[in-house]
Amino acid sequence: MDRRTVVIGSINYDIIIKQDRLPKIGETISANSVSMSGGGKGANQAVQCAKLGLDTHMIGKVGNDHFGDELLNGLEKYHVHTNFIKKADTNSGLGFVNSFPDGRLLSTIEKGANYKLQIKDIQDAVSIIKEASIVVIQLEIPIKVAEYAIQLGKKHGCYIILNAAPSVPISADVLKLVDCFVVNEAEASYYAGTEIETAEQALAASDLLQNMVAHLVCITLGEKGSVLFDGKEKQYFPAEKVDVIETTGAGDSYIGGIAYSVLNNFLINEMGKFASKVSSKTVTNIGAHEAMPSLEEVIM
Ligand SMILES: Nc1ncnc2c1ncn2[C@@H]1O[C@H](COP(=O)(O)OP(=O)(O)O)[C@@H](O)[C@H]1O
Ligand SMILES: [Mg+2]
Repeated sequence: MDRRTVVIGSINYDIIIKQDRLPKIGETISANSVSMSGGGKGANQAVQCAKLGLDTHMIGKVGNDHFGDELLNGLEKYHVHTNFIKKADTNSGLGFVNSFPDGRLLSTIEKGANYKLQIKDIQDAVSIIKEASIVVIQLEIPIKVAEYAIQLGKKHGCYIILNAAPSVPISADVLKLVDCFVVNEAEASYYAGTEIETAEQALAASDLLQNMVAHLVCITLGEKGSVLFDGKEKQYFPAEKVDVIETTGAGDSYIGGIAYSVLNNFLINEMGKFASKVSSKTVTNIGAHEAMPSLEEVIM
């Protein structure tokens, strides 16, 4: 099996503040703790792919600040190849996460270097795309660059996984090239144009979303689980029952599980179970990269 995976997308430095509640306007409160971690949807997905044993290369941009070096070192520590990550003449992308005791999160992002990624940077990395089996893309980079990357990956015979997050308008023609479209409930609601919160609503809306893409749709619903539909087989997967510590990166971890499943030719049933198991491990620890499980931790 050729395990080469290329992840194109965002790389952020995350500052996660654990607190009981948000302060009111004019009020100052103390956090319970603070932790710092590599983040950004692209980097998170790359780390999960690498931790599952996939030969993972990342295309993206970090800033020319000290966070940029730390982010590159962090990716390399998890065996993500960083040769095609460039430095932009600005700050690195930053993520500020407020994490509450029940596991819920609020996130604010400073786009920084991620939005300096250009079509030329994707073209410069064509040699690695040509050798890849899978290309994984999210939308925390300029949409024109993401659309170009989907087209280029498809041209070179790659299986395209698009995590359409955050939700932004995207070309219908480009969406038709996407083999696997992964969205959470908020993004699914945006693209389907109807509210999706429950498994029943996701099962119903998956027809419409599947019609927009080439093959498979995955709708994730946090602790309520996920729905997969490939135009023939539709299945609901409950989330695994675990002691939740902090849910940053759950969706990114799920996507790593999907990439692994695609490379191993898993059927829908195995794919949903595997991705649910991978992501359930990630919510039992703080941070994204650190919390993501290795293949051994998933299959034991
Ligand atoms: N509290 C939880 N307990 C167990 N599994 C979870 C929990 N939260 C998320 N997951 C798993 O992670 C997947 C993705 O989480 P979700 O929150 O939908 O993604 P995102 O991070 O993109 O919002 C879910 O479908 C589920 O399988
Ligand atoms: Mg969620």
